[in-house]
Amino acid sequence: MEFVEVVKRRRTTNGPFRPDPVSPEHQRLLVELAGMAPSHFNSQPWRFVLCDDPEIIAKVADLSGESMTRLLEEGTFWQRYRPYFRFSEQEMEERRDGIYFDQLPAALKPFSKYIFSGTGQAIMNKFGVPQTLGKDNHKLVAGSPLLLAVLLDKTEYKPGQLSGFYSVFGMGAAMQNIWLATVELGMGLQFVSTPMEIPENWAKMQALFEVPDDLELMAVYRLGYVPETTKRPTIDWSSRQRKRLSQYVFRNTCATPEADPAGS
Ligand SMILES: Cc1cc2nc3c(=O)[nH]c(=O)nc-3n(C[C@H](O)[C@H](O)[C@H](O)COP(=O)(O)O)c2cc1C
Repeated sequence: MEFVEVVKRRRTTNGPFRPDPVSPEHQRLLVELAGMAPSHFNSQPWRFVLCDDPEIIAKVADLSGESMTRLLEEGTFWQRYRPYFRFSEQEMEERRDGIYFDQLPAALKPFSKYIFSGTGQAIMNKFGVPQTLGKDNHKLVAGSPLLLAVLLDKTEYKPGQLSGFYSVFGMGAAMQNIWLATVELGMGLQFVSTPMEIPENWAKMQALFEVPDDLELMAVYRLGYVPETTKRPTIDWSSRQRKRLSQYVFRNTCATPEADPAGS
């Protein structure tokens, strides 16, 4: 595939994967490509765990689903991420970022007006919305043939210091290599992020992957081959909208936004 096409087609996969295992060749190719990423002084601070052990995947799925339910039930999720939700096409068209509310799950639509109020929270809980979405999340993770844990070497990853920033930057580049490679391989990838939001559940994830003291568990992803057709998932995190050039690029100095190409 043409490189530009690969970059344009990279997506977050919110739906289920095919049940087929990810071939050992593809697994190795993904991490080899990750290792080609740039890093400060070629320190290569990233580490990866390729996990295709069904028992561990099942335990991660339990933690992920349970975390999702808890975050929604307690309202933490809505409070934390409210700034990213857009409520009208007009707002979306103006800002061109965030997640358009229309793309939220059908189960939540009747409550959309109330979602950010105490009443809305109570209604959603009464109708078992957190359980439904937790179950969906559990199913997606449990049905993934491969998990990928990304870790950083703590001798490099020192939050608040430049080497901490550099390490995160390099890890992002390594992950982007993997993300782009999935396009070429007919695969998909999604963050398994809910356990990260609850410190005790993140500690359980570290225990599951047997993370030693000198490494920091940074993120976990689920991967697999993408089916030809998929139903829209209950929670659609992915958003295709992108800002116009004039909204994020400047010419020469920050005082002059780049002109948008005609017709954009
Ligand atoms: C740091 C970071 C965290 C993200 N967290 C999640 C997440 O928790 N769950 C998820 O499904 N997608 C997550 N995403 C994916 C974004 O939602 C997605 O990239 C964005 O909506 C654009 O969609 P696209 O990736 O399909 O182009 C994350 C992406 C980044 C870079």
